[in-house]
Amino acid sequence: MTHKPASDRYEHMPYIASGDSGLKIPRISMGLWHNFGEADNPIKAREILLHAFDRGVTYFDLANNYGPPPGSAETFFGAFLKQDLSKHRDELLIATKAGHAMWEGPYGDGSSRKNLMASLNQSLKRLQLDYVDIFYSHRYDTETPLEETLQALVDIVRSGKALYIGLSKYPPKQATEAYAFLRSNGCPCVIQQDRYSLLSRKVEQGVLDTAAENGVGFCAFSPLAQGLLTDRYLDGIPADARMNKSPFLKQTDLSKEKLHALQQLSQHAAQRGQKLSQMALAWLLHDARVSTVLIGSSSVQQLSENLHCLENTHFEAEELNRIHQIIDPFAV
Ligand SMILES: NC(=O)c1ccc[n+]([C@@H]2O[C@H](COP(=O)([O-])OP(=O)(O)OC[C@H]3O[C@@H](n4cnc5c(N)ncnc54)[C@H](OP(=O)(O)O)[C@@H]3O)[C@@H](O)[C@H]2O)c1
Repeated sequence: MTHKPASDRYEHMPYIASGDSGLKIPRISMGLWHNFGEADNPIKAREILLHAFDRGVTYFDLANNYGPPPGSAETFFGAFLKQDLSKHRDELLIATKAGHAMWEGPYGDGSSRKNLMASLNQSLKRLQLDYVDIFYSHRYDTETPLEETLQALVDIVRSGKALYIGLSKYPPKQATEAYAFLRSNGCPCVIQQDRYSLLSRKVEQGVLDTAAENGVGFCAFSPLAQGLLTDRYLDGIPADARMNKSPFLKQTDLSKEKLHALQQLSQHAAQRGQKLSQMALAWLLHDARVSTVLIGSSSVQQLSENLHCLENTHFEAEELNRIHQIIDPFAV
């Protein structure tokens, strides 16, 4: 049956402009990297997406290669949209990306014009859409002249296949050049996406400031360090956890010492009346340079818990010191 969306869905989610643009994005966005592929439970996946929409999450983040197998998250999301939210297309920000290995041969990887154009055409077919709201260059590619990538992005927007351009994982130097090129070609970059959490703080060395100084919004991906910054691993590794299923999170990512620090952090979160996941997201959102946190979820319960982080994003300086004392030795 087609879903009837919650009538109060816009009452609890704050939206802010992404950088200097007119595009309003929700403070919490939903990513489909894991849990929405062919191997995942489609009933559960649908419930998660509907819950997100019902709570005001308007931004859904995909990429050509999300699955597994690659492409299957887009196929799933396209069918989901058609069945459940076809009347609500204009309430949604749908993003996809190209730039990582996707198909065989010399054109299935990288950020050449050939790859970006072909990949977006494939994504639109899988998504059953005429356009995406944000098309990202998934990574800076040292083998392609930056100007070729950027001109392709400008042309994609001019073709109507994407409304806005985003960049993902661009180092500050290339990001600065890209922001200037895109702006001078009438197609300013609306958002930069990179890994950022209490455990991954490399973006503090230039990426965040460069985006802010150029009026570009910032989207923090893997804000829960793929589940490490939640209760998921505090008492052992559950059989169905990402650490047991995905090559992107390994048991070696969780030393005894890190686990102990996470347990301490969880106790600190409890003193704030929050779960560890809620405090980890609130910590990101209290930084004015962060426009949105891009979370993943394998259940409605996780998503629901995470959305409640919005209720307290305030930190006293003393409290921040305590948090950093605990976790900084494990942050990269
Ligand atoms: N641009 C890029 O290169 C790039 C790279 C990576 C990600 N991204 C984007 O960022 C999105 C989010 O990444 P992510 O999935 O790594 O984000 P994340 O929010 O750091 O991790 C999500 C995982 O953490 C666990 N989790 C979440 N909430 C929980 C809770 N309340 N309690 C217990 N466990 C909880 C779940 O793992 P279990 O499965 O174990 O339950 C969930 O799948 C992706 O979907 C993608 O859109 C972009």
